[in-house]
Amino acid sequence: MRDNPILLNLLCCPTCRNKVKLYETENLSSDGHIIKGTLKCCNCGMVYPIQGGVPRFVPTKNVAADISATVKGFGYEWKYVNKLIKDTHFITEKSFLDLIYPIQPEYFKEKIVLDAGCGAGRFTYHAQQFGAKAIVGIDLSEAVDVAFQQTRHCQNVIIIQADISTFLPLQKCFDYIFSVGVLHHTPNPRGTFEAIVRLLKPEGGVSAWVYGRENNDWVINFLNPIRLKLTSRLPRGILLALSYFLAAPLWLITKSIYGPIGKIDSLAWLRKYLFYFDYLFYLSGVEYRTQTFIVFDVLVPTITKYTTYEDFKRWFSENKFKNLSITSRNGNSWRGFGIRSLLEDNL
Ligand SMILES: C[S@@+](CC[C@H](N)C(=O)[O-])C[C@H]1O[C@@H](n2cnc3c(N)ncnc32)[C@H](O)[C@@H]1O
Ligand SMILES: [Zn+2]
Repeated sequence: MRDNPILLNLLCCPTCRNKVKLYETENLSSDGHIIKGTLKCCNCGMVYPIQGGVPRFVPTKNVAADISATVKGFGYEWKYVNKLIKDTHFITEKSFLDLIYPIQPEYFKEKIVLDAGCGAGRFTYHAQQFGAKAIVGIDLSEAVDVAFQQTRHCQNVIIIQADISTFLPLQKCFDYIFSVGVLHHTPNPRGTFEAIVRLLKPEGGVSAWVYGRENNDWVINFLNPIRLKLTSRLPRGILLALSYFLAAPLWLITKSIYGPIGKIDSLAWLRKYLFYFDYLFYLSGVEYRTQTFIVFDVLVPTITKYTTYEDFKRWFSENKFKNLSITSRNGNSWRGFGIRSLLEDNL
């Protein structure tokens, strides 16, 4: 993290919600980051370590076992599996904009932005490129170390490690919050949504992308028992090898059947007969390594939840959001955007 008052003022003490200040800076890097040090609460005096350039607000006890197992899996995913991906499609601005539709790059200009569950920081980086004034990337897993490296050249980005479901060490100061593929990996997705939107300024916007309940019966009834009983418990290296192996038939089927049928208009009549067509057609456009990554991503978490359209809409409408846009993505997930109309936050 940089000794930058604009970024420091976005943080707060998770214990008493007062300001924190830099207390010790033991190790300063040549590119201006405090690699090791501490933050101290101006009110209650609690101290929080900065390690590897990242302020750590990680509770030392009472992290639920399922949250802990889920973020360990994702830590491995972003630290090691992510390196496999050479497929630019997967990490481009285009795929980010697809996930936060209908938001466009101009929306980011001069905004204070939160990437809630930033993983390796691929979208934190795009938010910076789109002209945000300051961006916080927050994640509970070891992925923060990768996110820090990916964004350390950006003057206006800070990466922090904390639990977004219970433990947000941030001020209510954000113009825009996005959370891509994260809420459904927390024990109570709506509760986590409500925790993050409390950090919005009046008239602030939020985007969320979550797995849908609709069209996912086969995942819930067939895949999830296998994930819970087997794959989420496997040693990560073995799961990675298994994912590589499982991606072979997936790649063959998506490239040879779903891709052509999705692209050739005269074959459009066949689409309704094909299993999970929209999503598998989407997968036909990504490379083998990316498919391996996606298989790993689906099989590794302990916690994965599915939200219906009606419930997802209620997350927004019952929390005073207006200008709602809720759209399906690839037939199996929901993208939502809304603007918080409350002047005072009474949540
Ligand atoms: C599928 S990844 C998505 C990462 C990123 N949004 C992206 O699309 O590149 C889900 C992320 O949510 C994080 N996560 C899960 N539960 C969390 C929690 N309770 N607090 C903070 N981060 C959490 C995981 O560590 C993981 O990096
Ligand atoms: Zn405090």
